Amino acid sequence: FDTGSLAGRRVVITAGPTREPLDPVRYISNHSSGKMGFALAEAAMNAGAEVTLISGPVNLATPAHVKRIDITSALDMLDAAQSTLEHCDIFIACAAVADYRPTSVAEHKIKKGNEEIMELHLVKNPDIVATVASAPQRPFTVGFAAETQDVISYARGKLQRKKLDMIIANDVSQAGIGFNSDENAVTVVTHDTETAIAQTGKRQLANQLIEQIAHQYKTTQ
Ligand code: PMT
Repeated sequence: FDTGSLAGRRVVITAGPTREPLDPVRYISNHSSGKMGFALAEAAMNAGAEVTLISGPVNLATPAHVKRIDITSALDMLDAAQSTLEHCDIFIACAAVADYRPTSVAEHKIKKGNEEIMELHLVKNPDIVATVASAPQRPFTVGFAAETQDVISYARGKLQRKKLDMIIANDVSQAGIGFNSDENAVTVVTHDTETAIAQTGKRQLANQLIEQIAHQYKTTQ
């Protein structure tokens, strides 16, 4: 592991879930723990980078020397991401952002009615990593792809559609890896390469990913 590979570089990482409120006490969310994103923040810091971590609600300590911005919803995460863009060389989107949010947030707790079926209306959230990748002074932009089938081909689709430089595909249907576990197994996909990394602890994996990201980033400089 090259401790100087990102010296002087500014790295922004999103981590954890977003929460999309329905009313003052309820929200829609997912099982992301933030472990993968926090491990990447620590690894990037150890590689010499200046790291900003934009985190959804998680129960994790901030890695030493990492600047942390806490957010709740996808719209908050987009604002935070855009506020960092002027000073960002590499953007890594590890957060599990809700694709949709309730169209409106009730001012008071929604009461239980007599009806058996309740309908929720949702509206699409902006795509944070795609917005970053399309910004005029875009950083080197890395996404994750959480897939349950045809992992590589769906990841490749996201790489192209979102105009990313690299995407890290994980099969979140497999027990013991992905959401909320301590280990992960991934395939790093660029426009012309595919590199599998076997199942290992998220901290160890984060070191390998940061090494590959630093290497690929340098080829674009
Ligand atoms: O947090 P852990 O418990 O450690 O789990 C790690 C993880 C499984 C959450 C992580 O490894 C992972 O796969 N993160 C991406 C999860 C996800 O939402 O994937 P996606 O395929 O739905 O999204 C593709 C990419 O677009 C991701 O980089 C995502 O951050 C980004 N995105 C998605 C929607 C949106 N509105 N804005 C985004 O930026």
